[in-house]
Amino acid sequence: MEGHKMKLIIVENYEEASIEAAKVMLEVVKNNPTANLGLATGSTPIRMYELMIEDHKKNGTSYKDIKSFNLDEYFGLEATHPQSYHYFMNKHLFSGIDINPENVHVPNGAGDIQVSCDDYNKLLAENPIDIQLLGIGSNGHIGFNEPGTSFDSVTHMIELKESTRQDNARLFFDGKIDEVPTHAITMGILNILQAKKVLLVACGENKAQPIKVLVEGEKTTDVPASALQDHNDVVVIVDKAAASLLTK
Ligand code: PGA
Repeated sequence: MEGHKMKLIIVENYEEASIEAAKVMLEVVKNNPTANLGLATGSTPIRMYELMIEDHKKNGTSYKDIKSFNLDEYFGLEATHPQSYHYFMNKHLFSGIDINPENVHVPNGAGDIQVSCDDYNKLLAENPIDIQLLGIGSNGHIGFNEPGTSFDSVTHMIELKESTRQDNARLFFDGKIDEVPTHAITMGILNILQAKKVLLVACGENKAQPIKVLVEGEKTTDVPASALQDHNDVVVIVDKAAASLLTK
C-alpha cells in the first residue's frame, strides 16, 4: 500500500513527545505571530503546554496577536466549572502566556446548542486554523468525534461513548463516571481537515490500536482519526508504547 503523506516521529516517552510537539507548535507561533491555533485538552497536551509557558517566560515568545480555537467542550458545563475545557485551558496554558482573553475561543457547552454550533462554524470559517493540535481517543476519536461520525461533519453535538466517559473519568472527575457529561460539542472532522497543518500526539499502550489504523490502516469512520490520511500536512508524534503495533 502507498504510504500516506504523514510525518511520523517515534520517541521514547511522554516527556520527549511533549518536547517534540512543543517544537512544532512554537515554530508556527514564531514564524507567524498572528497565527490561529487549534488547541486540544486531555492529559496528553499538559506537558507540552508547560513547555510553551516556559518558552514564553524564558524567550519572550508572544501570543498577544495569536488567536486560539479549542476543539470541544462538555455539554452542560459552564466555562467556570473546574472540569470544563474552558477552565482546563485557562489553568494549563492561557494563564501562563500573554494571550488576549478576547482572542481565546472554546465552544460554548451551555445554553442553546444549535446557536453555539452555528456560531463556532462561522468563527472557524472567518479564522482559518494554521495548526490544529490533536490527541486521539483509545477508540480513535479526534476532538469528540466518536466512531461513526461523518468525515463531512462540522461543529456538532455528540453523545459520548461509554469508553470515552470511562477514559475521562479515570484521568479527571475524581474517577466518577456519573459526573462525566453524556454529551459534548465538538468541531467536526471537516473543520479539523481544513486546518493548514495538523499535529497529533499520542502516548501509551491504549493508543497503539488507533495509531496503527491511522498510520498503516484503511480510512474508515470506525476510526475517525483515519480521516487525516486525506490531509497533506500531518505530523504524528508517538511514544514507543503508542507505536508498538506499527509494523512498517
Ligand atoms: P488524552 O485524551 O490526552 O487524555 O489521552 C485524548 C483524546 O481523547 O483525544
